[in-house]
Amino acid sequence: MAEAQIYKDLKADHDKQRAMLEELAGLQGDTKKRRDLFEKFRLEVQSHAAAEEESLYATMLGEPDLRDEARHSVSEHKEIDDLMGEMMDLDFGSDEWNAKFFHMRHRYEHHIDEEEEEMFPAAAKELDAETEIEMAETYEERKPEELKLAKANPPGGDERD
Ligand SMILES: [Fe+2]
Ligand SMILES: [Fe+2]
Repeated sequence: MAEAQIYKDLKADHDKQRAMLEELAGLQGDTKKRRDLFEKFRLEVQSHAAAEEESLYATMLGEPDLRDEARHSVSEHKEIDDLMGEMMDLDFGSDEWNAKFFHMRHRYEHHIDEEEEEMFPAAAKELDAETEIEMAETYEERKPEELKLAKANPPGGDERD
């Protein structure tokens, strides 16, 4: 069977994020270009994770067989958000910032690889087509809204609580 739209949407975002990380890794020091790209990445990841939680993971949490995998991913979202919050407290482009960046990149790439290899196939096996269509609609609707929210909410905090 063809892959459902929700997984295609999420993977397309992951590929965009991988490309941004690759480009960021090639930039040095404190420049406007690097700051702008890092801010773009942080907004992209925050809004992706939030909309992913509101669509795919909200559904998976409601399925006993998918719950543990959903919890694992949501806890990694929190870990990445905390790491980006820690980066905001460091001097942009300093050695410490670079070390934190490479650690965050490693953890984030692990997260999205795992989603593609484990979480999405598990969900695809368990959920029906109608549920998958609803999840894609929710994701596509929430992503731009979450992008607006992310602009006003820096990572690493609990501002939305
Ligand atoms: Fe995720
Ligand atoms: Fe994801």
